[in-house]
Amino acid sequence: MYALVSFGMSLAYTQIGNPETGSARQFGPKVEPSLRDLAKKHRLNIGSAIPVSNLKNDLDGGRYAATATANFNLLELENDLKPPAIWIGPHEYHFSDVDFVVGEPGKKGWAQKHGLKLRGHVLVYARDEGYTLPQWLRSSGQNMSKEDASALLHDYITGVAGRYRGKVAMWDVANEAIDDRPNSNPFNLRNSFWFRKLGPEFLVDAFKWAHEADPRAELYYNDYAVEGGGVKAQHMLDLAKWLKEQGAPITGLGLQYHIDCRTSIAPGDGHYQFIEAIRKLRLAFMITELDVAIPVKRLPPADPDRGLIPQDPADLDQQAKTYAAVFQMALSSRNCHGVNIWGLTDKHSWIPGFSGGRNGAATLFDKDYKPKPAYDAIAAVLTG
Ligand code: XIL
Repeated sequence: MYALVSFGMSLAYTQIGNPETGSARQFGPKVEPSLRDLAKKHRLNIGSAIPVSNLKNDLDGGRYAATATANFNLLELENDLKPPAIWIGPHEYHFSDVDFVVGEPGKKGWAQKHGLKLRGHVLVYARDEGYTLPQWLRSSGQNMSKEDASALLHDYITGVAGRYRGKVAMWDVANEAIDDRPNSNPFNLRNSFWFRKLGPEFLVDAFKWAHEADPRAELYYNDYAVEGGGVKAQHMLDLAKWLKEQGAPITGLGLQYHIDCRTSIAPGDGHYQFIEAIRKLRLAFMITELDVAIPVKRLPPADPDRGLIPQDPADLDQQAKTYAAVFQMALSSRNCHGVNIWGLTDKHSWIPGFSGGRNGAATLFDKDYKPKPAYDAIAAVLTG
């Protein structure tokens, strides 16, 4: 089955297959022009966060995977490379899911076979609650000595970054180490397991060990609620400066950018001032987890349309403007190494769950893999 798809500046024949039988599943929704091709002209990486299971299970007859490969040159695993997914016990690791995408030693994985670079997320998720620190470590590590904790972290970072050496273009070495509320710790670091055991030096060590394990990978410190500047952004800059002074091989800062459709981003404002401050530290930056949430119709968790229907359809255009503004900012700065979007389609985005069903529709593709106005707006920025 062929369909003529037309939206904004794009016009393409797309073999969409038979949704009943999944035939022609190797042909995904190909959108012209592809963001991947357009971004290449700017040497800007453009990525998407994806769970391994969606690839392994050939989700939606392969349309999920095909949409990813057609539109992006970078892939980040949404949860599968987080410590709780891998680190199942002391010196005991679960690698098979990540191996599927990144490849076991000496072999290619799904990503390389499809010409996608990899962004590794994350070696140290520097907080204790939720899916960040392995549960067994939280409980069994309480009385662990500093030396033992340090040795354990060293082995983990070396084990993971070393296994995938040469295959991961950039790593989030540490994530969300800075607290939201003021405390008396240096750089307002969170009172996390690693901070309690090792002090702020765990961050320096993590960068050094990651670099030893994979000398060619770019290494990032990543955090949220720093977009646009402010107190937390200043802590991030101070931390980055200190890390450099300590000899930590840090490439840049990852700015998550979980924002909403009404976020204003314009030259000269706090967003631009922040990336300029990063440049002055001689660091790169990436937009690492971009999604632009829209207030959606409130529906019960089991409803298949939950998180998908904007309360105000005009917000899709508002969202497009905001996405475009982020890409405009990314292109304005030579030290931006890429933009990664958190979730491939609205149907598989974390925002509806995270917001308790209040927000959603935050990605570039709708539930049927149809590109939204945001897609065309980004294409226009990358073309212009
Ligand atoms: C989120 C995932 O998208 C969800 O599936 C999971 O339930 C919770 O974590 N900042 C990060 C990401 O660095 O790892 C988080 O990912 C979103 C916020």
